[in-house]
Amino acid sequence: MKKITIAIDGYSSTGKSTMAKQLARALGYIYVDTGAMYRAVTLYALRKGYISEKGFEKEPLLSDLPGIDLNFRYNPDLGYSEIYLDGENVEKEIRTLEVSNYVSQISVVAEVRQKLVALQKDMGRNKGLVMDGRDIGTVVFPNAELKIFMTASPDIRATRRYKELLDRGALISFEEVLENVQKRDYLDSHREHSPLKQAEDAVVIDNSSMSQQEQFERALSLAELRI
Ligand code: C5P
Repeated sequence: MKKITIAIDGYSSTGKSTMAKQLARALGYIYVDTGAMYRAVTLYALRKGYISEKGFEKEPLLSDLPGIDLNFRYNPDLGYSEIYLDGENVEKEIRTLEVSNYVSQISVVAEVRQKLVALQKDMGRNKGLVMDGRDIGTVVFPNAELKIFMTASPDIRATRRYKELLDRGALISFEEVLENVQKRDYLDSHREHSPLKQAEDAVVIDNSSMSQQEQFERALSLAELRI
């Protein structure tokens, strides 16, 4: 069977990764969460003290950048890959609200995008992958056979993210989460390099009132039409 590339873009907390993982599993494809890569670089910068309440020091991050080792390793128990930063599994550490609050400052840096986009293109050279992010259908794989753009109302997205963070034991308010979701959408859509925007040939899925199963079935049928 022909292997294709599936690009899934959209706003924060639209359930891109849940759907991308289901799709990858159903098709026997590789799943790549590009948000995790930007989050891991943000975690690196936070740990090094390059970003703090005082601001963001870009120069030291740029000089470390070539040596930052990012890769994904498949976890057979979960059925998908997890991200490793300099050899350490950081899946949990990158999902905190602190990282979410700073990640859009890191993802505007052209040099960071260049490095991560090159890694992403390399992961997709043999097709057979589902990649989710903000610029996958526009910049990373402009020739992807299937492009999906996911959206939902900000309130619904913040509610989903809030529940997820509460389940992980985070002490936060709904308002903080809503503010983060709206701020990230704004910054991601208005940055100079590779802003979040719908590719002209993307299929839009607004999942404000769709179940996970309905979204998955819709995406799978779109993929099957192209295989
Ligand atoms: O997908 P997720 O919400 O984990 O992404 C975190 C952040 O990483 C986004 O808000 C965005 O700033 C950045 N990002 C990006 N390009 C991508 C994926 C994520 O700029 N392809």
